[in-house]
This record gives sequence, structure tokens and C-alpha cells, in this order.
Amino acid sequence: MKRARLALLISGRGSNMAAILAAAGADYPALPVLVLSNRADAAGLAVAAARGVPTAVVESRAFKGDRAGFEAAMEAELAKHGVEIIALAGFMRVLTPGFVRRWEGRLLNIHPSLLPAFPGLDTHARALAAGVRLHGCTVHLVTAGVDEGPILAQAAVPVLPDDTQASLAARVLAEEHKLYPAALSWLAAGRVRLEAGRAVITAADSARDSLLNPLPRAALLSTQ
Ligand code: GAR
Repeated sequence: MKRARLALLISGRGSNMAAILAAAGADYPALPVLVLSNRADAAGLAVAAARGVPTAVVESRAFKGDRAGFEAAMEAELAKHGVEIIALAGFMRVLTPGFVRRWEGRLLNIHPSLLPAFPGLDTHARALAAGVRLHGCTVHLVTAGVDEGPILAQAAVPVLPDDTQASLAARVLAEEHKLYPAALSWLAAGRVRLEAGRAVITAADSARDSLLNPLPRAALLSTQ
């Protein structure tokens, strides 16, 4: 099996990155060849290094206002490692339309909400404030509009009456760690195509796999 050469872009903790690295055994269709951070203090860098994955830092702060320069430096790292697909994993910089266009169809993101609800930041606080009963996460292809691209997969979680931002974030994050490795594997295996701007996954079981909805029956009953 030819494995797609994968870069993971991080800015911090890197728990989604770690979930993908853990899933990326010999039979996984993507081969992690680079973990790239825009911050030297990202905790995920050490996690990647401990797994033997090459790491690089392109400090966004060093390129104040010069997004083209920042992205050119990132492109140089990506080229050096022969990267074919990119997964944004808690990468907190908005990429320019030019970068996104160059990587179109090969650039994935995970976002901590059920898009198109709650694009942007502070998704868990906003979900609590809105009083939604279901929240979750989305893996999508990146397009020029922030948090807007074609959706590959979503996982829903309940919002429980006593939830705090932290408890809700933790419930969503556990689903992120399952959803992202799965959705990324479809892209790497060439199973994603676009139809009228929507992502279609080729495989008989895709309808089941691209929707995780872990209904906690016991939790719901206990609130009655
Ligand atoms: C994750 O919850 C991810 O969905 C979110 O940042 C967190 C990173 O955690 N991404 C965004 O908000 C992107 N707009 P991690 O570093 O432990 O993977």
C-alpha cells in the first residue's frame, strides 16, 4: 500500500495529533512525516518527537503581519519532507486563500462544533450559552472561508444540564480523537470526492462511519 505523506500542523497540546499518530500503524493509509508547529512552546512537539516523528517550528510571531513570508517558510518545510496531505490539528492560524488553494482537496481540519453552527473560537462556551442540546465536532476539507469547507464526518455529544465548558470540551475531545483518524484515513486512501461542493465518501459503510452519535442513554435517563 502506498501511504500518503502526512504533515500535522499544531499550535499547542496536540492531542488530536497524538490520536492520529497512534492510529497510523503500518496499515494506515497516511504516513506521518512531519509535525509542524507555529509555536516553539507547543507541548505536542515533544509528543511527536517521542514517537520518532520529525518536527519543525515556524514561529508565526517572527513574521508579524507577513503572512506570505510565514506560509513560504511553512511551504519550505512541507516540501523538504515531501508532504502530500496536511491535517490541521489545533493549528490556530488562519491560512491565506493562496495556501488553501495550493492544498485544495489535500488539507483537512477538525473543528470543535457541529458546523455550520459555531464557527470560530470559544465553541463550547457559545454552545452552552445558546442552550443547544447536541454539540460535537466536525472534520472538513479546508476552503478559503474559515470553518466552511465540505464536511467529511461529524460526531455529536449531548449537552447535559450541569455541563461546564470543561466538561463539555472533554466530552467533545474524546469524540475528536476517534473521528479525526477515521476521516483522515478516507482522504489518504483516496475515498473522498466532491459532488456539488459536498464531500462524498466512497465505501458502502460511509453513511454509518461518518456520523458518530454516542447517545448516553444512562445519562439521559438519570435526569428524568
Ligand atoms: C481541538 O479541540 C480542536 O478541535 C480545536 O483545538 C483543539 C486542539 O486540541 N481546533 C480549533 O478550535 C480550530 N479552530 P489538541 O491540540 O489537543 O488537538
